[in-house]
Amino acid sequence: MTKKLALITGASGGIGAAIARAASREGYRVALLDVQAEAVKKTALAIENAQAFRCDISDQDAVETILNQIGGVPDLLVNNAGIVKFYPILEIALEDFRRVLDVNLTGAFIVSQAVAKRMRDSRKIGNIINISSIGGITPSLGTNAYAAGKAGLVKLTELMALELGPLGIRVNAVSPGFIDGGMSTPIYANPKARASRTQAVPLRRLGSEEDIAEAVMFLASSAAAYITGHNLVVDGALTHSVLSQIPRD
Ligand SMILES: NC(=O)c1ccc[n+]([C@@H]2O[C@H](COP(=O)([O-])OP(=O)(O)OC[C@H]3O[C@@H](n4cnc5c(N)ncnc54)[C@H](O)[C@@H]3O)[C@@H](O)[C@H]2O)c1
Repeated sequence: MTKKLALITGASGGIGAAIARAASREGYRVALLDVQAEAVKKTALAIENAQAFRCDISDQDAVETILNQIGGVPDLLVNNAGIVKFYPILEIALEDFRRVLDVNLTGAFIVSQAVAKRMRDSRKIGNIINISSIGGITPSLGTNAYAAGKAGLVKLTELMALELGPLGIRVNAVSPGFIDGGMSTPIYANPKARASRTQAVPLRRLGSEEDIAEAVMFLASSAAAYITGHNLVVDGALTHSVLSQIPRD
């Protein structure tokens, strides 16, 4: 039997690479997309049944070209690529604001639309999973378009679940909390930030890249066959803790 195909964007390292490894363990053939050509090639070499592609997901023509090269229609798409630019609202330049939205929101739309059309045409029971963030639920200071785009990605997830459900395509989001890896690596290299952030999480630990990969694989599995349009928050209950962080007396 031919293997199922998983397409993971932003997979040269961090959470995306962990998702690619988990999908490979689950028996998928995996296609890793990233703007960093060398890094994604290196990551794919260490994963069984993996292929690497250099692709900027905000470029619709580039995405179409890659989808025509990967050999088959993805059964699973994980929109994981993301960037953040830290500036206060009064300081951020329009081009930076636009670039963040272009990758984090429009990029996920471009890849989803292209893949979903192929799923429809091949009558595939497909799965799309969008990696959002708790920053889209409770914005962190200085995250400008990241917070707005991640919130938008959850709304896009809900809408795609409605429109693609009749085609048999499930669409869900995963919102990671404080993750010890990927783009947060520099934050947790600072022992003070590491300790205070760990203490803020009700489970009293940072999340791992594998915690997110496991949540993605659950949503992609038949165990989640009736779950669509959902945002699975994977944060050790951090987003529920705001009131408990304010002293009573
Ligand atoms: N690490 C965290 O603490 C955390 C928390 C919440 C959400 N997230 C989300 O998880 C996802 C993965 O982040 P990560 O922490 O692994 O960070 P990361 O920086 O390691 O991974 C992001 C990847 O996306 C790639 N990328 C950037 N722009 C691209 C483009 N235009 N086209 C294709 N690829 C592109 C990067 O090269 C990089 O490999 C992101 O969407 C991020 O917002 C991360």
